[in-house]
Amino acid sequence: MMERCGIVLAGGTGSRLYPVTVSLSKQLLPIHDKPMIYYPISILMLANIRDILLISTPRDIGLFERLLGDGSQFGLHFSYAVQPYPNGLAEAYLIGEKFLNGRPSCLVLGDNLLYGHSLSATLNKAAQKKHGATIFGYHVSNPSAYGVVEFDQSMKVVSIEEKPAQPKSSFAVPGIYFYDGRASIFASQLKPSARGELEITDLNKKYLEEGSLEVELLGRGIAWLDTGTHDLLYDASLFVKTIEQRQGLKIGCLEEIAYHKGWIGPQELRSQIEKMGNSTYSTYLRHLLEAPRSAV
Ligand code: G1P
Repeated sequence: MMERCGIVLAGGTGSRLYPVTVSLSKQLLPIHDKPMIYYPISILMLANIRDILLISTPRDIGLFERLLGDGSQFGLHFSYAVQPYPNGLAEAYLIGEKFLNGRPSCLVLGDNLLYGHSLSATLNKAAQKKHGATIFGYHVSNPSAYGVVEFDQSMKVVSIEEKPAQPKSSFAVPGIYFYDGRASIFASQLKPSARGELEITDLNKKYLEEGSLEVELLGRGIAWLDTGTHDLLYDASLFVKTIEQRQGLKIGCLEEIAYHKGWIGPQELRSQIEKMGNSTYSTYLRHLLEAPRSAV
């Protein structure tokens, strides 16, 4: 099988967060001690995906390039592309068609934060599937705000609906999707929805219709946090701060993940430490050199 690649979609106007996002991409806002985009990138890394296309708006793409560069400091390879208009999440598969070149992929939304114990294993299982698509289901108190998946007792998906007024279950679909190499072909067959967007839910429905859509439940031991409103943004920061302070371990530290996976060595880590100035982030990286936390 061709190696799975990743797409991080960091587009949109972020208008629910105005005025904070009038001049700055939502996905660059801080979640406690690092930019929001670090968290979805860390998800791809945990799934052992290293070739990543980052898609953002014409206004913001340069800022992402300045932040992330070619990705080599994290043992990754980044490419960049723009989504000129917010035409929907599934458009990522049209914009990214050349990059994908028929490879299987994982799409992660630049504003989704996932954290929890068995996450790596869950992601790797999905990444190994050769045919079809894997999406996830997560119990939430407000399913109407999301894609909602309904399944039968054998975990077979029965339906999937985008932001239904009357949700058929309490299981929302988080913004992380694993597809086989046909996703661009399916995306090219989609029609814009009533709100004028190519919906990721409609792409998932293509796989559902041919019987190759799998849904994995993320249990209550996993945190899936939304960052779409001022309150949620604050909650997510507080969540990260609380765990990081208690454990003395960071969530979504890209250098740490790369170092533990052997994708970068001490030399690359040292040069990152120099770039991170006088921050607590650089202190943390320095400690990694002395005592790697690979055991935890
Ligand atoms: C998008 C998707 C939705 C999914 C959500 C996850 O919605 O359309 O199906 O559940 O992301 O974050 P958005 O939040 O972009 O409106």
